[in-house]
Amino acid sequence: MAEIKKIPGSLRTHHCGELRESDIGKTVTLCGWMNKYRNLGSLHFIDLRDKYGVTQLGFEAFKGDLNDLKKFSLESVLMATGKVIARPESAKNSGMDTGIIEVQVEEIKLLSYAEEVPFLPHGMVQATEDLRLRYRYLDLRSKKLQDILTLRSNTTRKARQALYNLGFTEVETPILYKTTPEGARDYIVPSRVHPGRVYALPQSPQTLKQLLMIANTDKYFQICRCFRDEDLRADRQPEFTQIDIEVSFPTLDYMKNLATEMIRNIFDLPESFEMKSISYDEVMRDYGSDKPDVRFDLKHILATELFKNSAFTTFSEVAAQTGGMIKAIFIPTKMGTLARKDIDGLIEIVKPYGGKGVAWFKVENNQLSGGISKFIDPSVLAALYEKSSEKGDGLWFFCADKKENIVHDCADALRRHFGKFFKLFDINAYAFLWVYDFPLFDYDEDAGTLGAKHHPFTRPKDEDIELYYSNDKSKIKDVKAYAYDIVCNGYELGGGSLRIFDNKQQSRMFELLGLTPEECQHQFGFFIEALKYGTPPHAGMAFGMDRLVMQLARTDSIRDVIAFPKTASATDLMASAPSKPNPAQTKELGFKWLVD
Ligand code: AMO
Repeated sequence: MAEIKKIPGSLRTHHCGELRESDIGKTVTLCGWMNKYRNLGSLHFIDLRDKYGVTQLGFEAFKGDLNDLKKFSLESVLMATGKVIARPESAKNSGMDTGIIEVQVEEIKLLSYAEEVPFLPHGMVQATEDLRLRYRYLDLRSKKLQDILTLRSNTTRKARQALYNLGFTEVETPILYKTTPEGARDYIVPSRVHPGRVYALPQSPQTLKQLLMIANTDKYFQICRCFRDEDLRADRQPEFTQIDIEVSFPTLDYMKNLATEMIRNIFDLPESFEMKSISYDEVMRDYGSDKPDVRFDLKHILATELFKNSAFTTFSEVAAQTGGMIKAIFIPTKMGTLARKDIDGLIEIVKPYGGKGVAWFKVENNQLSGGISKFIDPSVLAALYEKSSEKGDGLWFFCADKKENIVHDCADALRRHFGKFFKLFDINAYAFLWVYDFPLFDYDEDAGTLGAKHHPFTRPKDEDIELYYSNDKSKIKDVKAYAYDIVCNGYELGGGSLRIFDNKQQSRMFELLGLTPEECQHQFGFFIEALKYGTPPHAGMAFGMDRLVMQLARTDSIRDVIAFPKTASATDLMASAPSKPNPAQTKELGFKWLVD
C-alpha cells in the first residue's frame, strides 16, 4: 500500500501504532482512548489506544498533578504530549508494534470523559452479541472489527480498480424503484405524494443494469446496496452489498474470465490462477450441493441402483420409487474412525434436512459388522468399492429417501460434518469453483408450478428452446440455463447469467412463472417494451461483497463484516429499527394500521 499522505492541522503528530525506535528523542502528541491505567505507586502508566495501535505513556517527566490521572476512566479520550524514549530493556515488549518505546508525558488533557461502559471493546470477558450490537460503536472500537472495516474498504478499492482497468463505467441506479425480483419479498416504501402507491427497494439493480445495456453503456458496474425481505442466515442480511456487473456482447467464456480476473485481484492471486469449472449436475451428483466446499474430496457415491433388489426393504423401496435416491459416503480407516456414540449422533446432523437416519456398516479385514451389514451381500459390497476412489477397511454411511433433494441435503450435511470432524481441509486454503449449466427453473412438484432458479431474466440454453416453448411444465422444468455461480469454501460468492434479449422469450418466461398478461404488463411492461428497441446480447453477475469479506476475514458471521448489521430478525438493536411511525407520518401517508 502507498504511504499515507499527512495533511497539516491535526490535533496529533502521530497515531498510537506509529512510533518506533527511529522516533526516539522526538516530541510528539498522541490522541486516543484510555485502554489501561496502571498505578504502581511511584510509577504510573497509561496505554493509549486508537485505530492503529497502542502506545504506552509514562509519567516520570510529568509537569502536572499525578492525582489527575486517577480521574480519567477507561475509554476516556485523552491528548498527551511528551518525548519518545527507549523503554528499559526489561520493559521492552516484542509482541507490541510500539513495544520498544514509550512516551514520557509532559502534558495530558482529558478531551472527553467516558462514563462506565457496558463492556470494554478489548475486554477479555465476552459480552453477549445482543449487548455488543446495542452498543455497536463500542464493539467497533475493537481491533478485530476495525481491521475488518479496513479490509472491506481495501476490497472495495481492489474491486473498483480491477473493473476500471477493464474499462467499466460505474453508474448509480435508483433505490426508490419498482420490484426487481430475485426470489425474496420486496421492502416497500409508501409514497406521500401518491397516496396508496409504494416504491420497492431493489433486491438488486437487475432490470436497471439490463436497461443500461440497451442504453449503450457497454460495461457497467456498481457497488450497490440490495434489499431482500427473506429468512436470514449466518451469511444473509436484509440489506447487503453487491459488486454488480453487466456487459454487452460477451460469451460464457468472457464471463468466466471476468469472474476469474475479479477473484484474482480481490484475493491477490497470481496471474496463473484459474477457477475449476463443474456443471450443476456434477456438483449435485458428487456433493449434493451447488456450493460445495471442495477444499476436501470425500465425494458422494450414488448407490440407488445397487439396492433395487436389497433385502433391506427400506432401501429397496426407496430405490424402486421414481425420484428415490440412495447416496453413500465412505470413510476409509486411514482417514479416521468414529466411536459408536458418534455414529449414533449422525441422525442429529441430517434431521434438520428432513433425514430420518443414517444407515451404516463397517468393513474390517473383509468382515462386515454393525448397522445394516447383514443386508449387504458381496456383490453389492463389490459394486460399492467399484464406485469408490478409496478402497480397504472403513465405514460406509448411507442417506436414502424418496425425495432426491432430501438425500442431497442430508448427504451434503454429512460430508460437511465429516470434513470438520476428521479435519480434512486446510482452514487457510481457498478453493474456488465455477458452477455452470444450472436449471432454468425450480419446479414445485406438489403445486405443479415453476419458479425462476436464478431470476426471470436468465436465458434458456439454445438446445432447450423447443422445450421452453412446449406445454408440459413437468418437462419444461428440465430446461437448462446459461447461469453460473462462483463458489468458495462452501459459500456462494457470486452468480449471474446470460440474459434473455428477445422480448417474446421474456414474455414467455413470465407466462411460465404464472404471471397473467395484466400482471406482466403492470410489473414489467416497461422492461419488455425496452427489449423491442434493439437489445444487445448481454450478461452479468454480482458478487456478494459481504461474503467476499467474510472469506477474506475468515469469519463465519456476516455481522462481523458490516459496520451496522441487523440481527437474525432484521432489527437494529442500537437504533431500535424498525420503529413505529409517528402519528403525523401515519396520517400524511393515509395509513390505517391493522396491527398495533
Ligand atoms: P444473486 O441473487 O445470486 O444474483 O445475488 C448475488 C450474490 O449476492 C450475495 N447475496 C447476499 N449476501 C448477503 N445477504 C443476502 N441476503 C444475499 N443475497 C445474495 C451472494 C450472491 O451470490 N442480480 C443477480 C446477479 C446477476 O444475475 O447479475 C443477483 O442478485 O453472494
